[in-house]
Amino acid sequence: MALDCESLRSEFPQLEGGLVYLDNAASTLKPRRVVEAMKSFTYRSYANVHRGIHRLSREASRAYEEAHERVARLVGGSWDEVVFLRNTTEAMQTAAMLLAANKLIGPGDEVLVTEADHHSTLLPWLAAARMTGAKLKLLPVGPDGVPLWSRLPEYLSEKTRVVAFGHVSNVTGAVAPVEEVAREAHKMEAIVVLDAAQSVPHMPVDFKKLGVDLAAFSGHKMMGPTGIGVLWGRRDLLQELEPHMGGGGTVSRVKLEAGEVKVEWAEPPWRFEAGTPPIIEAVGLAEAADMLREVGPDRVAMHEAELVGRLMKALEPLAGEGLLRYAGPSEPERRHGIVSFTLKGMSPEEVGLLLDRRGIAVRTGLHCAHILHDRISMPGGSVRASFYLYNCPSEAEALAAALHEAAERAKRRSSQP
Ligand SMILES: Cc1ncc(COP(=O)(O)O)c(C=O)c1O
Repeated sequence: MALDCESLRSEFPQLEGGLVYLDNAASTLKPRRVVEAMKSFTYRSYANVHRGIHRLSREASRAYEEAHERVARLVGGSWDEVVFLRNTTEAMQTAAMLLAANKLIGPGDEVLVTEADHHSTLLPWLAAARMTGAKLKLLPVGPDGVPLWSRLPEYLSEKTRVVAFGHVSNVTGAVAPVEEVAREAHKMEAIVVLDAAQSVPHMPVDFKKLGVDLAAFSGHKMMGPTGIGVLWGRRDLLQELEPHMGGGGTVSRVKLEAGEVKVEWAEPPWRFEAGTPPIIEAVGLAEAADMLREVGPDRVAMHEAELVGRLMKALEPLAGEGLLRYAGPSEPERRHGIVSFTLKGMSPEEVGLLLDRRGIAVRTGLHCAHILHDRISMPGGSVRASFYLYNCPSEAEALAAALHEAAERAKRRSSQP
């Protein structure tokens, strides 16, 4: 059964005035039930977790632990493979620092990312490479901004320790062939790290089936609150790693023996969640994960594919006349929920402001992917429309109509003496 976007909209008070919100790749709106879950937990059960014997602390600990389980259910794994951190960026940075601190990357080793990756993937691995003396390599993209996966074997070697890349590009919407990449990378015994910020909220994702070792995603991009994200890790890998950041909650016992501090780390995920964790946010994220499972990630994916198809069909005349250029593939079926483009004769910011005046929210700029924009000859950035489960076909049509108008205006302007 197709997803009923109209009835889902009533869960999102921000949409009540008719806002056309197409900035979902940056962050999604929050449904009532997520806000209510956090409110009711805060007023009734809130206390710090893990450290108290009193009733409230026990209740809060239970809710916090269950939140790991509820999020794990969404991505195929067990609760102890889910580490709560602040966002995708912190989860990816943690993955990089953990592998560096545990000496799984060293001088002369190689770390592979792609030219299409978000800075949240590129920069943590650049830092890890610089810190350890490893070399950072970048798999190039083709003219459509999609990594040239067929050239992967050339970029892998027995020196490759890590292959990190985005599941769905936040610019082109292209989906990476994760299973094949993981298979190739594992032949070299490299660790595979997936930036799942744009996939987990929008499609069925099972990290074990995909064959990745570590993965990162954000709560705020999947209807959850800000301030919480997930580092998912294969249990046996997490168990092997010592945390790079110690603190409250990370240990089972600390002792002073013959003048030396001895540390026994707690089991994962706790050893990686240093200090007081995002407790209220975890309850909100778990509610969002439940809602996403109830709606069905497969239905979300199909719904977004329909919206992308509709938008790109309506934009065909502009693309055909050369007035609109896509950042990424021009075939709708090669994109997932995201359509980025430039309009001839108008800066992305000008387009964004024109759309804003019509109540349409899109993102403009370089979308934290500077190298990718340079490679596809869009150094000034692009306009990005990104869909979610509460967007309806009429919104794709409204965007297309406004873009036709904008393109007309740009054409008139350029023909004026
Ligand atoms: C592909 C991708 N990776 C990482 C991030 C970073 O997410 P966050 O800002 O939640 O850390 C984003 C968000 O823009 C993204 O689109």
